[in-house]
Amino acid sequence: MRLLFTLLICITAARAGDHFLGWQSCASSGCHGGGKGDDQMLVWQKSDAHSRAYGTLISERSKRIAEALGVGEAAKSNQCTVCHSPMESAATAKIANALKNPNHGVSCEACHGPAENWIRFHTRKDISHAQRVAAGMRDLDTAYQQSNTCVGCHGNLPAGLAKASHPTLRFELARQLVEMPAHWENFDAGQSAKAWLTSQAALLRELCWLSEKGNAQPERIAALQWVLRETASGAELLPADPAPAPLRTAADKLAKAASKIKWTTEKTRTQFDRTAALGGQVKDFAQAEALVPALRALVLGLDPKVMPRAKDSLVSLDLAIRSPALFDAKKFSETVAQLTAAVSTKP
Ligand code: HEC
Ligand code: HEC
Ligand code: HEC
Repeated sequence: MRLLFTLLICITAARAGDHFLGWQSCASSGCHGGGKGDDQMLVWQKSDAHSRAYGTLISERSKRIAEALGVGEAAKSNQCTVCHSPMESAATAKIANALKNPNHGVSCEACHGPAENWIRFHTRKDISHAQRVAAGMRDLDTAYQQSNTCVGCHGNLPAGLAKASHPTLRFELARQLVEMPAHWENFDAGQSAKAWLTSQAALLRELCWLSEKGNAQPERIAALQWVLRETASGAELLPADPAPAPLRTAADKLAKAASKIKWTTEKTRTQFDRTAALGGQVKDFAQAEALVPALRALVLGLDPKVMPRAKDSLVSLDLAIRSPALFDAKKFSETVAQLTAAVSTKP
């Protein structure tokens, strides 16, 4: 319930009272639909998992998760729709227009904000970005704002869902922006370190907040703190103490600051070496879980020629954190060493 509440706040955060219009409102030809050229709707419907997020709830796997939780039909339970079809959760109060068909999936407005007050004028050339944002469009310009948008659904799974075998959620923005089929001009992979640092600081902030609310996850918090303090701005801004409230404030500061830092390839390289050196110290699963996304994002931020050499080790690292029961710290450290060697080799 608490999650539902947070998320509703989050997706309606732009301005209380604004209404969602549904993705059909964005889809007309000449706007974001029509099937040619710069067509966000086509990308979303054809290739983006978000458009199928509601469909997932009708699968056998969802049926088993819902049974384990005892929530009846997944597609009708708030415990699932809150992330998989948020307009559904918001439907009664917030869907404004005559669309009686539920707006399934994670659609445009879940990320871009309720369109009621900007849809009519947002394409006008004389309207500034600031004016659109003031009318309720979510500002997605910076890594900070992007992280805040995704982290609500990707950052943390309620404990009950994890026990019911819902897939583990791991949020890291650089990877997810690469894996989400782009309906935007270009994500600058050279700034992957920025996306990583910003998103992990935002994730740390959320975990601290949950911790203050009674959902303590001390291992995950300590692990993120450990990885992030091994960066220049993290060492400066994050306390070493694990007390959640001050750490939450500091983590938000770090996320904001990180969102403004520009990375060069050399700087990313230095950070990669520093972060990879943590591989030899890993003792528990949570540390490995925090380290793997960092290493992948930092490799993404290097020269694109590095990725093919690093790929096998990165796949092994993903496999290494599939299950806490099968985790082997020694083997994990060896794989990080392999990755470091692969990244350092001159092609
Ligand atoms: C309202 C909740 C919500 C928001 C906000 C959200 N997502 Fe998602 N995302 C989901 C759900 C649910 C899925 C799983 C879809 C499925 O397969 O059923 C998903 C899937 C994905 C996937 C595919 C994962 C995979 O392994 O196939 C990527 C990549 C992704 N999201 C990236 C992002 C990014 C980047 C953002 C922020 C810009 C974001 N998401 C914001 C709920 C959300
Ligand atoms: C906190 C947000 C959240 C909640 C709540 C949630 N999910 Fe998910 N779910 C996700 C995200 C995000 C993914 C994509 C994970 C990834 O691959 O990165 C996902 C993935 C899945 C998948 C795997 C999809 C695939 O294609 O592999 C299933 C099945 C699933 N969810 C079912 C459910 C069911 C059933 C419920 C309710 C009992 C539920 N989820 C509640 C966020 C959520
Ligand atoms: C899961 C989150 C998410 C969903 C769902 C989503 N978007 Fe986006 N959208 C983004 C992000 C992130 C960006 C990139 C912002 C940036 O880099 O400035 C973006 C960028 C855009 C842009 C700017 C394109 C550009 O080249 O700068 C448009 C237009 C857009 N989205 C329209 C849509 C439409 C229409 C839909 C529904 C079909 C949609 N979006 C669904 C997250 C989302």
